[in-house]
Amino acid sequence: MLTIEDLKIEFYDHGIKEVPVSNVSLHVGEGEILGLVGESGSGKSLSCLAAMGLLKEKNAVISGRVEYAGKDMLSCSEKEIEDIRGKEIGFIFQDPNSSLNPLIRIGKQLEEVLVLHDKDKKLYPDRKARAIEALKEAGLSDAENIYKMYPHELSGGMKQRVIIAMAIMMEPKLLLADEPTTALDVTVQAQIIELFKKINKEKNTAILFISHDLSLVKVLCDKVVVLKKGEVVESGNINDIYNNPKEDYTKKLIAAIPKVEV
Ligand SMILES: Nc1ncnc2c1ncn2[C@@H]1O[C@H](COP(=O)(O)OP(=O)(O)OP(=O)(O)O)[C@@H](O)[C@H]1O
Ligand SMILES: [Mg+2]
Repeated sequence: MLTIEDLKIEFYDHGIKEVPVSNVSLHVGEGEILGLVGESGSGKSLSCLAAMGLLKEKNAVISGRVEYAGKDMLSCSEKEIEDIRGKEIGFIFQDPNSSLNPLIRIGKQLEEVLVLHDKDKKLYPDRKARAIEALKEAGLSDAENIYKMYPHELSGGMKQRVIIAMAIMMEPKLLLADEPTTALDVTVQAQIIELFKKINKEKNTAILFISHDLSLVKVLCDKVVVLKKGEVVESGNINDIYNNPKEDYTKKLIAAIPKVEV
């Protein structure tokens, strides 16, 4: 479904070359959940932004291959890539504050996704009904009320659910979630992980889950790719890697998981 091969990102700043991503390859198959882990600054977000055509810096040079459903994403036109993003691939950005407009009611923000991707109302004739349904799919039972609210009226966990509802509005085949639980407390984190599992199971949505937290990846993902300084150092089945990490770096990521005494 989504294949990234030998992705490299170079920045040229006043003649000085920086290569934050030098060798990233991964594959997310249909209905699969892949975890992308690595410490802060390892290039997780950059890799995904570049793959989705969202790295717009003029001084950035992207090379390698990114293929989604047979399409070469790196040579797609802006229009083609905009049609895929938000419609076939739902994107949850790392910074939750950049996803919701504080001045617009939740319902209207959700419907804007349909205005963009379902202009003639062919797929969803009743936009309000779809927005409320998506909020429910994201685990918000009080959807009718939330539809009318502004973002500041919601808790952090509820806001994250709204952001997930927005990403699944068009029932995408792939969901790309960049650290979607980092700002949340542990209990809410666990609930959001369960929600991703549910969406995957019920709609067969493939998920690329980005996190620095291997314990979350272990609960949610089938496979994992470990990133260190812009390079893949290890990848494979999550249980194999968690139980038998080959790289010291992966061992350190596992050791960094706080042990909860019960
Ligand atoms: N526009 C840019 N120009 C130059 N360097 C950049 C740019 N954006 C990011 N970087 C660098 O690229 C590296 C990778 O950044 P990235 O945001 O992908 O890390 P990350 O793995 O997502 O980290 P985190 O877990 O903190 O979100 C970092 O060292 C960062 O400083
Ligand atoms: Mg990041």
